[in-house]
Amino acid sequence: NKFTIAVPASTANIGPGFDSAGMALNKYLNVQVIEQETWEIENHSPLLPSVATYTDHFIYKVAKQIAEKYGKMLRACKLAIYSDIPLARGLGSSASAVLAGIELANQLCSLSLTLEDKLKLATEIEGHPDNVAPVIFGGMVISAVMSHQSIHYFQLPNLDLDTVVYIPNIELSTEAARSVLPNSFSRDDATAASGISNLMIASLISGDYNLAGKMMEQDVFHEPYRAELIPNYQMIKQEAKSQGAYGTVISGAGPTMISFVPRGQGTKIASFMKEKLSDYEVDALVIDQTGL
Ligand code: HSE
Repeated sequence: NKFTIAVPASTANIGPGFDSAGMALNKYLNVQVIEQETWEIENHSPLLPSVATYTDHFIYKVAKQIAEKYGKMLRACKLAIYSDIPLARGLGSSASAVLAGIELANQLCSLSLTLEDKLKLATEIEGHPDNVAPVIFGGMVISAVMSHQSIHYFQLPNLDLDTVVYIPNIELSTEAARSVLPNSFSRDDATAASGISNLMIASLISGDYNLAGKMMEQDVFHEPYRAELIPNYQMIKQEAKSQGAYGTVISGAGPTMISFVPRGQGTKIASFMKEKLSDYEVDALVIDQTGL
């Protein structure tokens, strides 16, 4: 038995949609699975960390945890892993690996998990649903975790947008980027943040990308605190705007930044921005509408 699991990258927050909004992007983690007598993991990407034994591998650990949760044994197999999602850069590499592990257990143990089951399991492991929801469903997804841990979500209709990502040559852990955030907000700040986020989502749905872009850049929840951790934060926003980007925000917890640009303009804007950011990887990416 042989199958492949393909999991897209993702960008979370989209500015004011902190821990709630996210979008799937066309970079991928691919896991080829071949059932065999013993476990074996082959790492085919320079972006992935090498581990001493398969039992230390994150995808294996997630798969084992899920299998055990359902009282099943994981059958042995060989995993050949390919990825073009850089680690600790704000492009959802951890969410993608979590879902690869969940899908591996799902298939090897015939768990017949629904998409909602996968969302709940992945959110439990990740701590927030904003990367895992779009990775599962594709496109842009807004989710809300209720106090009793149930999750509601909404997949936006297709957006007429492309993106440009600016990936600096440094890592920033989500933990470090969360440690600079305040624990609470005043009512005035919370009200402003909620209004900005609501308006951003409404304008994305209605196709008013100029208004959406403006709201994207008004976040109150996290960008003001994280800006100093992100190299070239202001310069990237300004230069991208001069080239016609609707809005530019921190991708997830950073340090990557992402611009939302008119459909078809990604490559042109990316090559202009690459001139300004010689030590960056600058990529024109499109929205992955398919998900897992
Ligand atoms: N919403 C999360 C954050 C995404 O901004 O910390 C990173 O996992």
